[in-house]
Amino acid sequence: MRYFVFNTPEGVAEAASMVFASTLYQKPDAVFGLATGSTPVDTYRRLIALNARGLINFGRARSFNLDEYAGLAPDHPCSYRRFMDDHLFDHINIDKALTFVPSGIGDLEQNAAEYDQIIERAGGIDLQLLGIGHNGHIGFNEPDERAFAYRASVVGLTDSTIEANARFFANRDEVPRRAITLGLGGILCARRVLLLATGAGKARAVAGAIRGPVTPMNPASILQLHGDVQCLLDREAAALL
Ligand code: GLP
Repeated sequence: MRYFVFNTPEGVAEAASMVFASTLYQKPDAVFGLATGSTPVDTYRRLIALNARGLINFGRARSFNLDEYAGLAPDHPCSYRRFMDDHLFDHINIDKALTFVPSGIGDLEQNAAEYDQIIERAGGIDLQLLGIGHNGHIGFNEPDERAFAYRASVVGLTDSTIEANARFFANRDEVPRRAITLGLGGILCARRVLLLATGAGKARAVAGAIRGPVTPMNPASILQLHGDVQCLLDREAAALL
């Protein structure tokens, strides 16, 4: 896995936005895999600015998000659909009908099974953006003692993830305990992967992912098996490499 270390989180976001821009220049109808969480917000802000200046065009792009909380309707203020609308889609010229976020309501098992198929029918993901959890999770694929979760599925969230994400909710009790997520197989199918990590809290997970053994105890380590992954890190997140 290749990694690049920047002095600041802003450097990470700037570089990530350049990768998005170059992808769009190469392939105007690119399919993006997108992530939520705090880490990509600054990248999205820069994409909005580039789009507003007419430097990049999302008019033919499509996107698939990694995950959604179980039980949250798209218009729930804490849903990931809402997060994406607020932080990106409502401010760029993407066709919202071509932005997909897994549905957290209805028959979740069926939603998960269908999600892999919809992505396949779209021709697969050209550029998959990822954050990383403190425990190495990508999407909502949490550490597991036995196996990597290959297909899109409905998963339980670990206490540490519930704790980490409580900041987006009124209180910890409101954080859903389950989610629907693209599986690690789906992530590995993306043609190119861009993982962003900033801050000291991510240093252990990042070192495990890049240098450690490939183990389901650190789901991001499976990216070592992918041939085209770039990790953009700030100094703090890279401290243990
Ligand atoms: C959430 C998301 C992940 C994200 C992770 C890290 O749990 N499901 O996709 O990568 O949090 O978030 P942050 O960037 O806020 O640290």
